[in-house]
Amino acid sequence: MTEPKTIHVSVAWPYANGDLHIGHLAGAYLPADIFARYHRLKGNRVLMVSGSDSHGTPISVEADKRGISARQVFEHYHERFLLTQQKVGISYDLFTHTDTESHHRVSQDFFLRLLENGCLYKETQKLMYSEQEKRFLPDRYVEGECYICHYAHARGDQCDNCGSLLEATELINPRNRNNPADHLIVRESEHFFLDLARWEPELLAYIDQHQHHWRPNVVRFSRNFVADGLQGRPITRDIDWGIDVPLEGWEVKKLYVWFEAVIGYFSASVEWARNIGQPDAWKDWWYNPEAQIYNFIGKDNIPFHTIIWQAELMGVNGLYNGAEDSIGRRYEAELQLPYDVPANEFMNIEGDKFSKSRNWAIWLPDVLDRYQPDAVRYYVASTAPEGADSDFSWEGFLNRVNGELLAAWGNLANRMLSFAYKRYDGKVPSIALADLTAEDRAMLEKSEAAFETVSDLLAAVKLKEALSTAMALVRETNVYLDRRAPWKRIKEDPADAALAVYTVLRVIDNCKVLLAPFLPFTSQKVHEFLGYDGQLFGDLKIVEYTEATRSHKALVYDGTPAIGTWATSQLQPGQALREPAPLIVKLDPEIVEQERGKLGQPRDERPITV
Ligand code: MF3
Ligand code: ZN
Repeated sequence: MTEPKTIHVSVAWPYANGDLHIGHLAGAYLPADIFARYHRLKGNRVLMVSGSDSHGTPISVEADKRGISARQVFEHYHERFLLTQQKVGISYDLFTHTDTESHHRVSQDFFLRLLENGCLYKETQKLMYSEQEKRFLPDRYVEGECYICHYAHARGDQCDNCGSLLEATELINPRNRNNPADHLIVRESEHFFLDLARWEPELLAYIDQHQHHWRPNVVRFSRNFVADGLQGRPITRDIDWGIDVPLEGWEVKKLYVWFEAVIGYFSASVEWARNIGQPDAWKDWWYNPEAQIYNFIGKDNIPFHTIIWQAELMGVNGLYNGAEDSIGRRYEAELQLPYDVPANEFMNIEGDKFSKSRNWAIWLPDVLDRYQPDAVRYYVASTAPEGADSDFSWEGFLNRVNGELLAAWGNLANRMLSFAYKRYDGKVPSIALADLTAEDRAMLEKSEAAFETVSDLLAAVKLKEALSTAMALVRETNVYLDRRAPWKRIKEDPADAALAVYTVLRVIDNCKVLLAPFLPFTSQKVHEFLGYDGQLFGDLKIVEYTEATRSHKALVYDGTPAIGTWATSQLQPGQALREPAPLIVKLDPEIVEQERGKLGQPRDERPITV
């Protein structure tokens, strides 16, 4: 037995300004969940955290549009995020939000510590000011031509075409997104800046050190970002929704959302530790040099997770250190930097980019009302944008679900479990293991060998390949089963038929584990049909936590310690089965036209049900 690993799964925090959609799932949440579930099955120590990003202009824009407060917007969507992610099974140890007292305090501590350590400086900025609205316009409210790639609709903070971070005042022909007739002027305001340039040697060394296990696009993007020259980044803003700058005289300004949202990975770990009654438990991840921190994000977030977050972590130089962790270890002064940042590309929809305003989107609450979570998970995992953009098409969904998930896996499990249940008196056939034929043994060995292959791929975050490898085994099992045809052999040679049925059930037991990170709901059912008790994974619960002045709801994975069931089947001949039921619902081909018809049409936002 190897020592359990210590794995932190940090997942990008969704802006709570609209429902979650397929792009969120494909870009970060499903990969993170598959990875976390795999490590839990391996018996590793996993801490997976995220939460609603409740600040930032995306929230304010939505609030302005609806004529309600930013808080109302974020609370509404936060609540929906909890239900949606519970339903699709994203196994966060803690999914909280950035408006907790705990996150405010930790973010302010980061700020003060960076200030004390000389990592911040003050500078007067020229900013876009709206004469009509009598206020500084957040970068996102400014639109214009990108001065790098000349894309016409770049935002003031970032270009969605080339991914560059931008200065709003330098956009070509800047205008107010909400009001083209507005007159924008450039006005001065004092702000704090994070001094990135001082970290250049450390950042380059850090990228070099990780280049072999990072995805090539992440290495390339990060290197270019440093090579382009590290500019100081303003971390305060002239806005009124956000976390206070903890200094006298700064009451009208707030911390910039990106400065504090990444801190959420840390503050949520601290919150989690307190919630479980072991306030130092977070140190096992953040001060432990053996721990590996993985940041699951979309490609538009790369610089924040490979450069800026690292500068913040290095700059605080061991925040809150000095105490021992929960098992009595004392660590060096440094917080751990991310070990890997597996950024996914984008998932388009029917050949076109996601667009909230055009409703060119696949909303998770809606699809989860109509389809099984594992059907959605299977399609998204098998077409995930790992290494290149990919496309969600309803025809693809239909074909993958009916033609692969149901035809290969669902039917294999179902026909064998039903056959065994009916013909062998509700039991795994009582064979003698020594009687298995060479062909049976070869099939079993193949399924056992897959544990290592699939495991290596999952550990390397090659999730799509891991899934296709597991599914290749499922298909081979079908071929084996058709050749052995126990439904025929049972008349001619019942003893031989029993050997084949036993073999397939045992391979199914293996496939159940190999597929569990991808298809947790289905694997749990197979586990039960095979007659086992207990759960492969813990449950996801919605819990309310109370702080001094407010309370918040969170999604919590209730399954620690890990069960550690990434192990080959030892299925016992004669084990009692449970009566099986179909695993996968067959999709009607008509859904393709129905679903396509909804794209680009006004959305009917019904409340989600669990
Ligand atoms: N809210 C951001 C987005 O949706 C992502 C924030 S990731 C974090 O693009 F690390 F900053 F939290
Ligand atoms: Zn551009």
